[in-house]
This record gives sequence, structure tokens and C-alpha cells, in this order.
Amino acid sequence: MKHRIGILGFGTVGQGLTEILLKKKEFLSKKYGFTYSIVAVADFKFGNVYNPKGLDMERLLKEARAGKKFSKDIVDWDNEKMIKKTDTSVWCELTYTDLQTGGPAINHVRTALKSDKHVVTSNKGPAALFYPEMKKLADKHNVRFMIEGTVVAGTPIINLADGPLAGCTITKIRGILNGTTNYMLSEMEKGMGYNEVLKIAQEKGYAEADPTGDVEGYDARGKVTILANIVMGAGIKINEVPCEGITKITSSDIEKAKKNGKRWKLIGSVEMTDHGVKASVKPEMIEMNHPLAGVMGATNALTFSTDLLGDVTIVGPGAGKIETGFSILTDLIKIHRESC
Ligand SMILES: NC(=O)c1ccc[n+]([C@@H]2O[C@H](COP(=O)([O-])OP(=O)(O)OC[C@H]3O[C@@H](n4cnc5c(N)ncnc54)[C@H](OP(=O)(O)O)[C@@H]3O)[C@@H](O)[C@H]2O)c1
Repeated sequence: MKHRIGILGFGTVGQGLTEILLKKKEFLSKKYGFTYSIVAVADFKFGNVYNPKGLDMERLLKEARAGKKFSKDIVDWDNEKMIKKTDTSVWCELTYTDLQTGGPAINHVRTALKSDKHVVTSNKGPAALFYPEMKKLADKHNVRFMIEGTVVAGTPIINLADGPLAGCTITKIRGILNGTTNYMLSEMEKGMGYNEVLKIAQEKGYAEADPTGDVEGYDARGKVTILANIVMGAGIKINEVPCEGITKITSSDIEKAKKNGKRWKLIGSVEMTDHGVKASVKPEMIEMNHPLAGVMGATNALTFSTDLLGDVTIVGPGAGKIETGFSILTDLIKIHRESC
């Protein structure tokens, strides 16, 4: 089956996905019978382009890497028209995350689903704020709303719970859901203070100029909300999840934990209780022998507590061009397999 792909947002992830699709074109076709054309790209910075026969993606990558606007196949259509009018079967929504309103992404997702087109996204906004509505809309239009990349990039979390762990009752999910803060806590153990470590994290590109979303725990809260609603069917709203970041952790807190054989981690947690699903984000001192204690630097990890397997821990990257581009590919392959 030939998939006609549209990409909204040609930044880090959009370009990473394109690089993977180009590199693996033959592999995907031979191994899975997955063939594709990227026929539409819509991006603020580079412009909107469409070619029903397939865009020249090598050229688009070259122009984007050079910071130039796209030079061929340009259309003066807005995003809504791009989504509705182009001959596309699936849209990859890769614009910026807005955890307050969903941003433009929510309109992109709604429009695509209403136009009977699948949506694959790594954008937490639509998934954290509007998942039940989007899922209902997708079901109504017999298409898929796929969100693996919204939690821990390409490290399989949503698809792990839905696939290999299907049949288990998942009673608890606890983990390190934000690489920036895990990097900062790891570095603070080497003796540096919070402000010094934050500066280094910003220099290395782990933390943004405005680090609020990471250090206050809001990014992790978005992911916890997605897990609570999708894996545990909780129906909770993002603002209902208690959230505390790492800004109050001092060097002396780090030392105290060390002396007691423990280590600070920013833990996102979702748990099934007798009073419903409880979710939270907060710094916790965990025992050194816990599987999450050894997860250092920008790496992410999640432990699923299950009835049939006990605890299952998965460790992997939570960000990156190729790592997140891969999350989109896994969902595209899933859509492909379901439609064969
Ligand atoms: N990068 C990662 O490692 C990672 C990991 C997990 C999840 N994610 C999520 O994946 C999504 C994409 O991330 P990214 O790192 O690729 O972001 P990015 O590098 O900032 O790229 C986003 C691109 O979308 C464009 N854009 C913004 N609003 C748009 C609109 N309304 N219509 C068309 N284009 C628009 C941006 O243009 P301007 O620059 O001109 O605004 C930019 O070129 C985000 O939601 C992010 O949170 C990223």
C-alpha cells in the first residue's frame, strides 16, 4: 500500500522523520510492503508545498538545513486547505506543543480526522488536552489518532502498553519522563548548584532559554496526563494533576539523599487506587537499588507494575531528531499493518 504523507511542521522532528523515510525507503518496502510519497509539507518558516506525485524531499531537506524557504511546488494555501484539499492519507502533526490551549495543532488534528485522514503526532498538546475527543473523532471517521512520540519520544511506551503488555492489568506506571531535569539532577550529584547546572543544560541545548516547562514539571505532567487517560482510561484533566518540579532541590538535599543511600529523581506517577486513578509529578528520593535510580543524564525510563509480569522497566531516549522521528515511523508502520 502506498501512503500519501503530509507533514505539518518541518523542524527537528519533521526533518528527522524525512531523513529516516529516505534512508529506509527500500527496507520499509521490502520488509513491510510499506511504500510512500511525501506529497505535502506545511511549515511557518519554510512555506507550504504540494506535489501529488511526491515532493523532492532531498531538496526540501537541503533548503531547510540552509535556512532557506522552499523554492518549488509552492502553494499559497493555508494549513486547513492543505490538510483538506491535498491527496493525503495521513498527516504527521509536528508543530510546537502548547499545553494550555493545544495551539494550532488541535485544529490541524481535528481538520485531518474530519477529512478521513490518519494523524500521527509527537505533539503533547492535542493528546494531553483533547485525547477523548480526538479518539472519538478518529473512530467516527474510521481513521487513527496515533501518539507514541508524545511520551518519551521513540522509546515504546504507548504501544508497549497497548501491544506487548495487552492482557496484563497495569496498576501503576512510575518513571523519569523529562530528560532535562534528570540531566540536571545527575549533574548536581557531581557537586554543582542548581543555577550552575541549569546554565550548562541550556548551553548543551537540553534546557530551553525559558526552562519553566521542564524544571517546574509541566512537561512531565503533560505526559503523565496522557498515560493516565490512555493507558488507564482515567479521564483526568491536566490541571488536576498535582505537579512539583525540581526548582526547590538544593545541593544539601542531594547530599542528604546520598548519605542515606538514596538519589533524587523527578518522578511522574500514575496509579490505580480504590478511589480511582491518581496521578502526580514530584521529586522523590528513591533507593539506589531501584531500577530507576541507575538512569542518569538525559535518559528517560518508566516502570510498569502489572498483575501478570510484576514490574517491567523500559529505559531509552526521550528526545532527539532521529529518536522522535522514529516514533512517527513506528506509528506509520502500525497504521500500515492495520490497513493490510
Ligand atoms: N525535538 C524533540 O526531541 C521532541 C521530542 C518529543 C516530542 N517533540 C514534539 O514534537 C513536535 C515537533 O518538535 P520539533 O523539535 O521538531 O519542533 P521545532 O524544531 O520547533 O519545529 C516545529 C516547526 O513547526 C513550525 N510551525 C510552528 N507552528 C506552525 C504552524 N502553525 N504551521 C506550520 N508550521 C508551524 C515551526 O516554524 P517556526 O520555527 O517558524 O515557528 C518549526 O519549523 C513538538 O510538538 C515537540 O514538543 C519533540
